[in-house]
Amino acid sequence: MISPVRKMFDGIASRYDFLNHFLSCYQDVLWRRYCCKCLKKMMAVDGANAVSENAPGSVRIARNAMDDAECAAGTARTVRLLDLCGGTGDFANTFRKIFEGSSSKGAACGFSVEPAVIGDFSYGMLAEVKPKKIDAYAVQLDAMKMPFAERRFDVILNGFGMRNVPDARGALMESYRVLDAGGYLCVLEFFSPRNLFNKFFYKVLAPLFIPVMGAFFSGKRDAYEYLVNSIIRFLPVDEFCKMAEECGFEVKKVKMFDGGISFGVFLHKPGNA
Ligand SMILES: C[S@@+](CC[C@H](N)C(=O)[O-])C[C@H]1O[C@@H](n2cnc3c(N)ncnc32)[C@H](O)[C@@H]1O
Repeated sequence: MISPVRKMFDGIASRYDFLNHFLSCYQDVLWRRYCCKCLKKMMAVDGANAVSENAPGSVRIARNAMDDAECAAGTARTVRLLDLCGGTGDFANTFRKIFEGSSSKGAACGFSVEPAVIGDFSYGMLAEVKPKKIDAYAVQLDAMKMPFAERRFDVILNGFGMRNVPDARGALMESYRVLDAGGYLCVLEFFSPRNLFNKFFYKVLAPLFIPVMGAFFSGKRDAYEYLVNSIIRFLPVDEFCKMAEECGFEVKKVKMFDGGISFGVFLHKPGNA
């Protein structure tokens, strides 16, 4: 049987990107960009550390890379990317642009990205990937039971997907399984509000305007009521981080966006795992 959440995403797929940008005043674009830039810095530093540990002659280059936190040691590292709950593929697209672009100082940045895997259970959402001509494969899958071997990916992105999965712990454990040792899982999400401003935003303001706007532009009021309710019902960010640690991840960084409207959580699978 098709799950109601999957049916819902199938139903809003053609208006999803527009409404995402419109309702967040384009902040979603900036949040994804920030997450990708941050991942790039983290991975550049990891690469630089590996170089300085392995090759004494490369220490100078490595230190520069760490100072810049932008470029690894000049050799291109190929990144295997999974955009999980990837929907229409915006996160994967942003990732490629950031990772394969050049640094602010014009140097080549030492990363190349394999054609990404965009994994999602909604065929409707995945069908929106094709017109964007993203260098990626769209794969219909369930985030809690993925059709991949262990350690298949270096980076997993999960933009606004965790909250929709029935078992977040199951999705975290499955992500851990398919991530290579030393890899990163970046979760960009709306977490259950904790402070007064966010409680007011999500419990009073958002239920007033999000379903109305959603209904006006997509004709699917239910889907946008679900959006607000799913945020209130989800875990607060600190509880999510605790759960991730219980699944074996190290929490590298938690970035709050716009006073807590959303968060970027950067999780690392230890190098020796
Ligand atoms: C809010 S959209 C996010 C899309 C995209 N990642 C973004 O950044 O805009 C959530 C996505 O999660 C997908 N999803 C929800 N539950 C899932 C599951 N159990 N397995 C795979 N995908 C799922 C939905 O189909 C939907 O495309």
